[in-house]
Amino acid sequence: MSTKENVQFSPTLPYSSYVDPEVFNEERIKIFSKNWILVGHASQLEKVGDFLTLDIAGEPIIVTHGTDGELRAFYNICPHRGMKVENSDKGNKKVLQCGYHGWTFKLDGNVNRAPNFKTNDLGEHSCMKSIRLEVQNAMIFVNLDKNAASLAEVYQEFLEGMKEYPFFDSLKLVRETRREVKANWKAVVDNYLECDHCSIAHPGFAKSFDISNFCTTTHDKFTYQYMAASKNAEGDQARFYWIWPNMMINVYPGDGNVNTIQVVPVDAETSLGIYRDYSLNEITTKEKEEYFKFVDQVRQEDFDLVEKLQKGLSSQAFSNGIFSPTEHAAVYFHELIDKNLQD
Ligand code: FES
Ligand SMILES: [Fe+2]
Repeated sequence: MSTKENVQFSPTLPYSSYVDPEVFNEERIKIFSKNWILVGHASQLEKVGDFLTLDIAGEPIIVTHGTDGELRAFYNICPHRGMKVENSDKGNKKVLQCGYHGWTFKLDGNVNRAPNFKTNDLGEHSCMKSIRLEVQNAMIFVNLDKNAASLAEVYQEFLEGMKEYPFFDSLKLVRETRREVKANWKAVVDNYLECDHCSIAHPGFAKSFDISNFCTTTHDKFTYQYMAASKNAEGDQARFYWIWPNMMINVYPGDGNVNTIQVVPVDAETSLGIYRDYSLNEITTKEKEEYFKFVDQVRQEDFDLVEKLQKGLSSQAFSNGIFSPTEHAAVYFHELIDKNLQD
């Protein structure tokens, strides 16, 4: 006899993992210090001297474009006494200077001048510590783990699929917005990985796209969600990729309408969302403005959802939630979290 009580839904991770600083710290060590993390697009570092900075797993990182044309990543930490070297998010400099005792560094991370020291005597303190960096389809990734398998190996299937978008190399960054989200990074990813909430929370989005034909497929360390645009010709689809652990790439209909989202964990209940919009040219058309308005609206609706959700996750009412069968991408995400925390 089949009864409703027998139906088994997949459980979410325990809600405590969305609020507990100890779990957050474990994720920092076992996930964010061991995986490839998207840091930007090559168009952001086009010229010699261009740099960008960000935090990964609580570590300040800097990526530079050297005089030899190479992109490199370092810990943004001074080898003299541990000061954070560069404080801007991005810029262009010939040398980097530490604001404490004035040591300067070349774009390849080697010390340039160290007042009161002979630079030849500095040993391991003679350069900023380097980090692995790889570029694929003009997307720049770094990994804090020296022994991690290569990006091409880890994301083989995803990178194979990216060949469908040869225009990625020609994209230009046209807008970057950052927003502090008062929610655990996993809640932001969970929200991205299902569209059961779309008809309720995103009325504009639900009108523009045929969400009844929303499809989700899970793959090795990434998921792919897509649907047809209801007003456009067949095949003109919106496509959404989530790449383990915290990266998203969205390809909307239109000329190179690509945006990326990085969900940077800040603490157990705070994340930094970095939203980058790309285009094939830097001219902002009326159509583009409309498109920006559209994506901003959808983002705002999601911020509201996850920030309200975060409050419920610390309640004692439930210890976890359940996933519907159409939320299988989020189930996969939770399996990967579990697996990585056990390793
Ligand atoms: S800590 Fe950077 S120069 Fe002293
Ligand atoms: Fe959403």
